[in-house]
Amino acid sequence: MRIAVLGMGYLGVTHAACMASIGHEVMGVDVDVDKISQLRAGHVPFFEPGLDALTARMVQSGDLRFTASYEEAARFADAFFIAVGTPQKRGEFAADVSAIDSVIETLGPMLDRPAVLFGKSTVPVGTAERLRSRLKELAPAGPDVELAWNPEFLREGHAIHDTLEPDRLVVGTAQQGAPGAITVAREIYSSVLASGTPFIVTDLATSELVKIAANAFLATKISFINAIAEVCEAAGADVVELADALGHDRRIGRAFLNAGLGFGGGCLPKDIRAFMARAGELGADQALTFLREVDAINMRRRTQMVDITRQLCGTLLGVRVGVLGAAFKPDSDDVRDSPALNVAGQLQLQGAAVSVYDPKAMDNSRKIFPTLSYASSAMAACAGADIVLVLTEWEEFRELNPRELAAVVSHRRVLDGRNCLDHQRWIDAGWQYRGFGRRPSSAAM
Ligand code: UDX
Repeated sequence: MRIAVLGMGYLGVTHAACMASIGHEVMGVDVDVDKISQLRAGHVPFFEPGLDALTARMVQSGDLRFTASYEEAARFADAFFIAVGTPQKRGEFAADVSAIDSVIETLGPMLDRPAVLFGKSTVPVGTAERLRSRLKELAPAGPDVELAWNPEFLREGHAIHDTLEPDRLVVGTAQQGAPGAITVAREIYSSVLASGTPFIVTDLATSELVKIAANAFLATKISFINAIAEVCEAAGADVVELADALGHDRRIGRAFLNAGLGFGGGCLPKDIRAFMARAGELGADQALTFLREVDAINMRRRTQMVDITRQLCGTLLGVRVGVLGAAFKPDSDDVRDSPALNVAGQLQLQGAAVSVYDPKAMDNSRKIFPTLSYASSAMAACAGADIVLVLTEWEEFRELNPRELAAVVSHRRVLDGRNCLDHQRWIDAGWQYRGFGRRPSSAAM
């Protein structure tokens, strides 16, 4: 099929390259001409494992092209995927859907033949129905232009896998039926469906809600285990062993029960806030008040990390802190609402001398936190450090040799913000180790 993907962010570039890889002719569209010229050269402007190579390969094959022209995309495609961002509004919890509105306002009047638009972005429930009505007014082809919602569940760091081998595909259509959209979706995803992926057809509102409910559930799971970690700290219990034991219960599962610095990134934090805001508009705010607590538990992890650092060093004034990790999670260069960078910034503002290293997120970190010091390696970040903080669980940090690191620091103190280190190895190498919610014997400080 001939497909246009609108919005060349994380989601859009991944979707465009993956759709080309399963045999479609794809055009990636963005209003940012710099981004388009980078992509035309086969270069992805952010880090995602494997995506640079896949994009370059698809560009070379001719199956993936890029344009800044909506006219060109409208002439080219029969199916469109909307993949623009829906960030949190400034000063409010609600989501800013203006980028989606402008896609519809720009593209709508150009649609003069049958087409299907699939929304992939995460939106407040009710948005799709509103866009559908607007599209009817704008598109010369009128009812021959259908709007369906096909939410994306991809995780950064696993974006290609999650697009080509998703846990499920969800397509929401208008209640009066949009038979064309379902047929087109089945055709586009035929190779994905052939491998047995569940295909769920539902209405527009349910499809919008599936996505936001999934993210709210994941956020709740993380905050749940972090709340339990606080109790473990108070009771002298060990949250890692507890999570392993809980995870054996198939109704609960072990995934997303890693206690530590909590969740960040461009999705979970803003999605739970937008969900609360939308529920409020719908008069269902009471249903989601628990998400305020989920958010509060999560944000508390960051201040607690700063407090523990102060407690361990006696003060923060003039203390040299080596911070390992700036990305919101490993295998990503994304620093949007990154807990790691937030902690590094708070420590610096409270008088510590902070040196940060991250394998991939240095450029992005410098842009949003230019006042922090950045080092060129983990060793360099920890040189002369009074304390080392591991704030993103990159493989490189898990594999650090505590004996080698001991040679460059001033004090052998490590605060494992992600409970990701082999603590016994660090203790054996003479380090004082502190995790989150870990048994005091393994937290020897
Ligand atoms: C998330 C959803 O997983 C994905 O389905 C959706 O499409 C977009 O939002 P992503 O933001 O890429 O994906 O990250 P995810 O892997 O969900 O991690 C989110 C945050 O939670 C990270 O900061 C991570 O470090 C943290 N986390 C995750 C924990 O603190 N503990 C865990 O056990 C798991």
